[in-house]
Amino acid sequence: GAAELGPYRHYMQKEIFEQPRAIADTLDGIQAVVPELFEASGNHPAGEGAHHVFKQIESVLILACGTSYYSGCTAKYWLEGIAKVPTQVEIASEYRYRESVPNPHTLVVTISQSGETADTLAALRHAQSLGMRHTLTVCNVASSAMVRETRLAYLTRAGVEIGVASTKAFTTQLAGLFLLTLALAQAKGRLTESQEAAHLKAMRHLPAALSAVLALEPQIISWADDFAGKQNALFLGRGLHYPIALEGALKLKEITYIHAEAYAAGELKHGPLALVTSEMPVVTVAPHDALLEKLKSNMQEVRARGGVLYVLADADSRIESEDGIHVIRMPEHYGPLSPLLHVVPLQLLAYHTAVARGTDVDKPRNLAKSVTVE
Ligand code: G6P
Repeated sequence: GAAELGPYRHYMQKEIFEQPRAIADTLDGIQAVVPELFEASGNHPAGEGAHHVFKQIESVLILACGTSYYSGCTAKYWLEGIAKVPTQVEIASEYRYRESVPNPHTLVVTISQSGETADTLAALRHAQSLGMRHTLTVCNVASSAMVRETRLAYLTRAGVEIGVASTKAFTTQLAGLFLLTLALAQAKGRLTESQEAAHLKAMRHLPAALSAVLALEPQIISWADDFAGKQNALFLGRGLHYPIALEGALKLKEITYIHAEAYAAGELKHGPLALVTSEMPVVTVAPHDALLEKLKSNMQEVRARGGVLYVLADADSRIESEDGIHVIRMPEHYGPLSPLLHVVPLQLLAYHTAVARGTDVDKPRNLAKSVTVE
């Protein structure tokens, strides 16, 4: 009811603003990266705890749907970049019905806010039926089917999520998946103690960093005023931020009904550039990273066709607002945890655009919070 909403107009807005708390709770009590963090299900037979599993697996297969799928896509960059473990990410409804080549030494990771999504559960059972018994879930509901049916589990502590469009569940999943990356890196001997300490320090800074990003809300509201009258929007990112562009586009379409799609910026010239006109806002996630110079030339391509850019940059990105380029400057440069921070303005953009359009933010048409039937 209204009382629970406090100062917020919708659950989605409340949940967006709960993210510093949700991440702090998810990380609470973590002094070091230990395999036991992933034993919340209590389902592993003696001698087959997380330590044993992490030492022997050769690859990771992530299965999920919707927003949870995009957290998996982000984790692939971490798992291969930091832990050096080959990783595949697949939409659960595809995996469960296709012929695949099972590897008994693969860690099968399901990601689910609810732990009850029918396709994700069926994908897990399918993997098990193919002989893959190293299973782990990243899940927000301790009593769910997913947690019951996997051997290992990491429980996010987002708290109950009511808004159909997932927000705090996504960022807490990312926190759990980053910890999983560190745990695997450690098991494979690819993480020194000083690297572990530096990563944990950056994680402990997340609540404060998230709060600073949430303070950008007034600037996002002015972007939302522009978006409210549009029919289409394009989201661009590269590397770790490509999945964040995908999630930004998903949020916008879910609750504003504006057609939105995301592209890896390097693919722009292979299709979506044909759509760019002055009526096409192009959101670009542009932190200062190794791909920034390439991304800047993608932005030029958009400008040359009259497209209007909405850019999330940081202090080092050296991108200034000018005619046709609207820049919101992120407060810091965040390193590998950057996706957790950059998704927040995109959540707020979808939210405020939906409010401006007068849609039913918490219960968008045709969508359900948890899809428990196929
Ligand atoms: C539905 C919800 C999404 C969610 C997806 C997967 O489509 O509307 O917000 O991301 O299901 O749900 P799960 O509970 O498995 O994360």
